[in-house]
Amino acid sequence: MALNPDCIIVTIDGPSGAGKGTLSQLLAQRLGYRLLDSGALYRLVALSSLNKAIPMSDEASLVHCAAGLDVVFSPAEGGVQVLLEGQDVTTAIRQEQVSMRASEVAAIDAVRSALLQRQRDFATAPGLVADGRDMGTTVFTHAQHKFYLTASAEARAQRRYQQLLERGEQVDLPALIADIEARDQRDQSRASSPLRPADDAKVIDSTNLSIEQVLAHMMVTIGA
Ligand code: DC
Repeated sequence: MALNPDCIIVTIDGPSGAGKGTLSQLLAQRLGYRLLDSGALYRLVALSSLNKAIPMSDEASLVHCAAGLDVVFSPAEGGVQVLLEGQDVTTAIRQEQVSMRASEVAAIDAVRSALLQRQRDFATAPGLVADGRDMGTTVFTHAQHKFYLTASAEARAQRRYQQLLERGEQVDLPALIADIEARDQRDQSRASSPLRPADDAKVIDSTNLSIEQVLAHMMVTIGA
């Protein structure tokens, strides 16, 4: 992929719950860059395929679903509103059932290929912050700044637990840890674009760091 000097790309990869989403949003705001939440695309394929009752065994229909996603990301109060076929699915794509299926559809190579160009199209001047699992290793290999953000499974589960409690949802912490470990295992062991740091990524372990500390570290590294 050719380097476009007019578009600075910052990639933030890592496992779920490491704080990538919040940090990517904050970083994009600070830098005045566009934001790509690539996980939302896999979640949208998951939700759309569940809505259409497409079984996991029907790979051709899952790929068709990914290629034809009718999605709009629009800036909203405190984040981004996600519209699928005109319907607001911002909350629906965060349900646990959708998370699990997203991880399964993300393991299908042809689904990943179907989403590749859509992700690359987000790169426009002056820059892009791309949040995902393979931003630095596959989608934007030429990115000027690459980060790999991680934290222990317990710390990540604990953060998710707090979020769900605040939303008034009933949750079981040990089950959450088991879910996160199962998802990590699948994301790291799949044949297609497995989750791993790019060779030129800066690895940050956020287990004992606040969002503000990580953000400050990233800003200094980027030289902004
Ligand atoms: O970041 P997230 O939890 O919203 O991602 C949802 C799922 O999609 C997760 O199982 C990992 C997968 N994913 C991926 O395989 N590649 C990406 N670039 C982003 C997410």
